[in-house]
Amino acid sequence: MIYLKTPEELVKMRAAADLASRALGEVAKLIAPGVTTNKLDAVAREYILDNGGRPACLGYGGFPGTMCMEVNEVVVHGFPSSYTLREGDIIGTDIVAELDGYNGDMCYTFPVGEVDPKVLDLCRTTKEALYKGIEACVEGKRIGDIANAVQTYCEKRGYTVVREMCGHGIGRKMHEDPEVPNYGRRGVGPLIKNGMCLCIEPMINMGSRNIVIEPDGWTCRTRDRKPSAHYEHTLAIHDGETEILTTFDYIREALGEAYI
Ligand code: MF3
Ligand code: CO
Repeated sequence: MIYLKTPEELVKMRAAADLASRALGEVAKLIAPGVTTNKLDAVAREYILDNGGRPACLGYGGFPGTMCMEVNEVVVHGFPSSYTLREGDIIGTDIVAELDGYNGDMCYTFPVGEVDPKVLDLCRTTKEALYKGIEACVEGKRIGDIANAVQTYCEKRGYTVVREMCGHGIGRKMHEDPEVPNYGRRGVGPLIKNGMCLCIEPMINMGSRNIVIEPDGWTCRTRDRKPSAHYEHTLAIHDGETEILTTFDYIREALGEAYI
């Protein structure tokens, strides 16, 4: 069931997305060698709570954090821990903030200090693929057009697309219909309609596309342990336009020169 949002609901979606964006901006300020992922998670949690929101991942199906922590080969759903970031790591931080009953969901993969240029290229390409997907997200087109845009962009550059995980609708619930895959054929899938809120979130690998789930039942990593990158925005389609509700602007402000 796809829930189309009213203009009043979109006001709340915008506010939730802004809260998630600001929280990730706070996280960005701390990204450096030596910081633990637990610390990053605590900062995000406190920011959301201090601003009247709820950290929606915390307790979701038993998930133990405010954010998913995706260090190097971790694709999605890693736990915050005592792991200390090291120079050369990349870390994806995936956050969902609920505010006034609506959810904003986003992810950003940060380089930690000096990172191998090949790994930086993976990150850049994945972020660009997110925006290719957003460009293809046009009212009257289909979900498969988004999927195909992401896939084509990444595969042309020699990267692989994780297939087991995908983007999704969002609203009162963090995950609503439809699924938004990162691979597929143009012209197939649900029609993109005014009132839809969608999360597009490419998860792109340097090596093979295969993944494994760790024994904790959550942490998803690449089978070959090569790096994976992940970026995500929450979007709303209304009045024939696609509005990006989340923003990386706070991250850009926090990182300055280091922003990629
Ligand atoms: N934010 C993730 C997504 O993009 C979901 C997080 S799973 C949770 O769909 F369990 F941590 F909430
Ligand atoms: Co999501």
